Amino acid sequence: MIVLFLYFRVSWIKTISTRAPGSLFFVAALILICLFVPSFKMQTYVHSSLTSLLKSNLTSNIRQSIHVPDGTLDNTRAGKRASKVNRDLTERGRRKFKMLGRKDMLAINRKCSHRMPNAIIIGVMKAGTEAFSTFLTINPQVAMSLNVRSTLFFSSRYSKSLKWYKQQMTCSTSNQTTIEKAPQYFPNSLAPKRIHSMNKNIKLILLVRNPIDRAVSHFLQMKNSHPKRLRGKNFEDVVFTRGGPVNPYSVFIRFSKYSSILRNWLRYFKLSQILILDSDQFVKKPMQALAKTESFLGIQHYITKDKFVFDKQKGFPCLNVTGIPKCLGSGKGREHPKLRNTDYYKLKAHFRRYNEEFFRMTKKRYTW
Ligand code: A3P
Repeated sequence: MIVLFLYFRVSWIKTISTRAPGSLFFVAALILICLFVPSFKMQTYVHSSLTSLLKSNLTSNIRQSIHVPDGTLDNTRAGKRASKVNRDLTERGRRKFKMLGRKDMLAINRKCSHRMPNAIIIGVMKAGTEAFSTFLTINPQVAMSLNVRSTLFFSSRYSKSLKWYKQQMTCSTSNQTTIEKAPQYFPNSLAPKRIHSMNKNIKLILLVRNPIDRAVSHFLQMKNSHPKRLRGKNFEDVVFTRGGPVNPYSVFIRFSKYSSILRNWLRYFKLSQILILDSDQFVKKPMQALAKTESFLGIQHYITKDKFVFDKQKGFPCLNVTGIPKCLGSGKGREHPKLRNTDYYKLKAHFRRYNEEFFRMTKKRYTW
């Protein structure tokens, strides 16, 4: 029995007791049988089945943990949690998980816990926040969930507790930076105050895109995800009032007025706390934007140029971590309908004042 016990090693028993407590009972039962079975042949049989049970239990738990899409090996109740994540994992999440490559996943430290975010990607919606997050996550010092959309805690789920919020964060190690991606926060008038009350020193990342392109992209996404709401309507129908002036109440227009929204954030945060990145530049030179972000976050520079390839068919940079380029799904990088010149200039004129204001506020000019 002693030999048997030593053979299984104490560490294995410990790991199993935390990961799969149910199997411990089974192991104990088998050991008891072993005590009452005199035949050596029988003992050998029990011993071999016990060994294979332990091995399969461990490997399946580890395999499940590796399937956590954010690439973090979660030791806490790993079995239960991993299977939950697997259940929740959308096809989208699976694709993104595969993008990261197995080697990177396995390199991640195994001891982790849930922590409050050190940084939040607050927007803007449709400025490449998903590509940006996906690319940033290849840095092993970044802990960010890729399958979960956003907790929406500081916008629509504030009735939940901070403890709940923390639990939603990706399991991270002490040398990792926890980041939440939540572009829904930027236009939310209550989010800045709420985030400030959680952590006034938090780092914020804001990608901005030409407001007209952003509005079109927002419309196309809405049309795709809520086809009934916009049935039969095209972009012009929703952003212009009866073909006339720009409709200032349209959500697609309002969310593109960055200066009005940013003003509210600057009531709570210093400009130096917000890293503002140009979406067009990010598409052209992803490495530069990501290197800037690594410096801003105070983490080691890990993301290099060779980790990307420009996919001509997709028209966007794609990850090249495993040697096989992985691009974002068809919902990202949609073809935009061409606007009539008159409509384009009407929108341009409408946004001009807000754009100029935004440039003044951020002390930086963009091409739009
Ligand atoms: P379009 O689909 O309108 O072209 P978000 O992730 O914030 O929803 O933004 C979506 C936008 O990200 C896309 O809008 C696309 O222009 C942009 N984008 C930036 N980099 C990308 C990349 N590498 N692959 C796909 N889309 C990317």
